[in-house]
Amino acid sequence: METNFLLPGGPSAPNPALRGAPPAGARGSRMTGSAPSGAMGGLAVVAAVAGATICRAAAVKKKGVKVVHGKEIPWNLFSPKAPYQGKVVANDVHPQTLTEPTGDANWETTHVTFDHGGKVPYIEGQSIGVIAPGPDKKGEQPAKIRLYSIASSAVGDDQSSKTVSLCVKRVVELDGKFSNRAKGEDKPDKAGTAFPENEVYRGVCSNHICDMSVGDDVLITGPTGAEMLLPTDPEANIIMLATGTGIAPMRSYLRLLFHDKAGAASDGSRKFKGLAWLFMGVPYSKSLLYDDEHQVYKKEFPDQFKYDYAVSREDKNAAGQKMYIQTKMAEYAEELWELMQDDKTHVYMCGLKGMESGMAECFGPIAEKNGIVWTEFAKAMKKAWPCHAVPHGDFYAMRLQHLI
Ligand SMILES: Cc1cc2nc3c(=O)[nH]c(=O)nc-3n(C[C@H](O)[C@H](O)[C@H](O)COP(=O)(O)OP(=O)(O)OC[C@H]3O[C@@H](n4cnc5c(N)ncnc54)[C@H](O)[C@@H]3O)c2cc1C
Ligand SMILES: NC(=O)c1ccc[n+]([C@@H]2O[C@H](COP(=O)([O-])OP(=O)(O)OC[C@H]3O[C@@H](n4cnc5c(N)ncnc54)[C@H](OP(=O)(O)O)[C@@H]3O)[C@@H](O)[C@H]2O)c1
Repeated sequence: METNFLLPGGPSAPNPALRGAPPAGARGSRMTGSAPSGAMGGLAVVAAVAGATICRAAAVKKKGVKVVHGKEIPWNLFSPKAPYQGKVVANDVHPQTLTEPTGDANWETTHVTFDHGGKVPYIEGQSIGVIAPGPDKKGEQPAKIRLYSIASSAVGDDQSSKTVSLCVKRVVELDGKFSNRAKGEDKPDKAGTAFPENEVYRGVCSNHICDMSVGDDVLITGPTGAEMLLPTDPEANIIMLATGTGIAPMRSYLRLLFHDKAGAASDGSRKFKGLAWLFMGVPYSKSLLYDDEHQVYKKEFPDQFKYDYAVSREDKNAAGQKMYIQTKMAEYAEELWELMQDDKTHVYMCGLKGMESGMAECFGPIAEKNGIVWTEFAKAMKKAWPCHAVPHGDFYAMRLQHLI
């Protein structure tokens, strides 16, 4: 029997109809009124992402709700025209800045938390949009929305169901194709980094977020995204492949699986009974996002949580190759392959597109040994989850699942 422990509607969920369901009257309350100019372009971003989602039975039945695999999930409660105005709860350099300076201009990734007063419910694996004041690339004010994968579980970091957290990398480019600060114009950001000697391009929304202070207002849209939802089976195995900020949805899952009260059974054990295996790829050990949390899960749940990471600019494999996530996975190819033969295994990927071909390099030979063509196997897994692969430029969010 399938137990609904992860998605809305489980016996212990606060609202049996929809965990994280939009509270009555959420729509329209505390909205910011008139549409910011330029926000329609943001709508196009949402539409493009939703358009890439091929969902069976995914018709929107009620406003603010989408049905995915027979379950209702919160959906676009707040649009770019009428965003929710939340407040920043935490965004300091320490401990919320997750990374330390590495020498690269774009060294900083922050963990930021917004209060949404319970008005922007979401579930693990979804994204929200943020509208920065701008000016945007073409001078638009406010800027078009940018999407961010939610890094907190549905109950939020404080488990009040009133906050949402993001893992945001500050985009800073020096002497590149684009600049929005001429030489001498760049001022120290909140982390104290400045490049007065260079032509600098500072990403519009990521810098807005990284420079936020507690108490600041923030304009939020969404939630959206059905590609990366967790399965309902508590005995599922969850393999997670993340590079850089691609860790955001994985952090959301891990909070539910191993941290939150919402994921605890009445006997004190976890509702989740399967195996969660995280492979994380970052450039430097100083950029190992959420490593402290992962170490705790590893210590507390040694039989259920496995954690491996590849530090690309510090480590090499035995053959002297750069240590990428797929290089690390290749060390466990047999074990992973066996796990992937299990119908209960789901693979989540979020991060640089190169990971997908990396997977093929890793599993191609072992698949061949077993008389299987990896690309066919991966294609079948993708098909089994109809809301599959969502490429965003060089980035990729994907869930692979067995055909059942
Ligand atoms: C579903 C989804 C989830 C995401 N999740 C996350 C997340 O969890 N964490 C995260 O950090 N990011 C995430 N992103 C990326 C995020 O949406 C933003 O793209 C990112 O923060 C950069 O936005 P920005 O406004 O700071 O940069 P922008 O100002 O949008 O700049 C981005 C790039 O545009 C280039 N550029 C500048 N001017 C021009 C021009 N005139 N023409 C063309 N290009 C130009 C710049 O060189 C720069 O590289 C996600 C994206 C999607 C779609
Ligand atoms: N999270 C999301 O959903 C999302 C979505 C869209 C865009 N973004 C944006 O994407 C940008 C990415 O930065 P980041 O901080 O997330 O990443 P990051 O910190 O640069 O980490 C990426 C890691 O992946 C490695 N890598 C490079 N090519 C690879 C390949 N072919 N296969 C496997 N690994 C590879 C990199 O190694 P080397 O660099 O050493 O080669 C690095 O170690 C951010 O600006 C973010 O805004 C994020």
